[in-house]
Amino acid sequence: MECENMDKKNIYITRRIPEEAINLLQEHFHVEINPQDRVLTKEEMLQNVKNKDAVLCVINDIIDKDVLEAAGVKCKIFANYGVGYNNIDIDAATQNNIIITNTPGVLDDATADLAWTLLMTVSRRIVAADKFTRNGAFQSWDPMMFLGRDITGKTLGLVGAGRIGSNFAKKAKAFDMKILYTGLRQNLKIEEELGAIYVDKETLLREADFVSLHVPLLPSTIHYIGDKEFSMMKKTAVIVNTSRGPVIDEKALVKALKQGKIWGAGLDVYENEPEIEPELLNMYNVVLVPHIASATLETRTNMGLIAARNIIKVLNGEKPDTCVNSEVLK
Ligand code: DGY
Repeated sequence: MECENMDKKNIYITRRIPEEAINLLQEHFHVEINPQDRVLTKEEMLQNVKNKDAVLCVINDIIDKDVLEAAGVKCKIFANYGVGYNNIDIDAATQNNIIITNTPGVLDDATADLAWTLLMTVSRRIVAADKFTRNGAFQSWDPMMFLGRDITGKTLGLVGAGRIGSNFAKKAKAFDMKILYTGLRQNLKIEEELGAIYVDKETLLREADFVSLHVPLLPSTIHYIGDKEFSMMKKTAVIVNTSRGPVIDEKALVKALKQGKIWGAGLDVYENEPEIEPELLNMYNVVLVPHIASATLETRTNMGLIAARNIIKVLNGEKPDTCVNSEVLK
């Protein structure tokens, strides 16, 4: 995967990503890719970023002060392959004059689609019903078999109405849902276009039939949903998380499900990813997927292209399209 021209600038890519993005970078630079199909150890990361002009990293690489300093003064940019960048010490990057970029916009549909998939899969008990059918247990139609919950006409509670949250809300209109939302900021567009109503957290939790989380991971959103919040929710409610795992207190979730405080959960992300609270693995009212919200070929290709273009622009002395620490550009 390396090209020969030593005059070219050096790029390091920490994981294999779709080819189009790699090809684009190879047209301009000497590109080295982690050959292992796994997350690098800290030692490997420190070694591999050394003397690179740019690094394309992924959301489960820990890019801390040590890594940024190891990259050294030559390094101009770490382009994160993902919209969330809680894996990167932004202050340390800024202090080291390293530009950090992310990939907003291109994954809104894919992520909102997966949140809907989880919502519907949990509500209609699809995973358990599929297993039952495959196991040959379907002997006759049964009026009481796999009773789920209606979606159409119900109340949706959206936590966070940014790009992904509002995309998710737009799709709720097809199900004639009432949309409540809460979060740091009001979103007048979804109020005007979708009739969404801004409410406080408690009202949302008490009234929503479905709660979907779309906030970034910040000190204020860690354990945003815990024991207290589960107690406020309807016993028939379903919660869906495609944001970041620590937004839900996972032990509190296990308790809430066991005690019937809520009806079900659909999770793409976990508090201590890739570890999962063991009891969740045996619960029938939970659907679990391995952080795949943006995992479509089209979306992952577009994420790679944004990251690659940011690197090209920065190494050509231009401003990147999606910088998250713009102080460095001044
Ligand atoms: C992101 O982009 O932050 C997602 O979690 C990865 O798909």
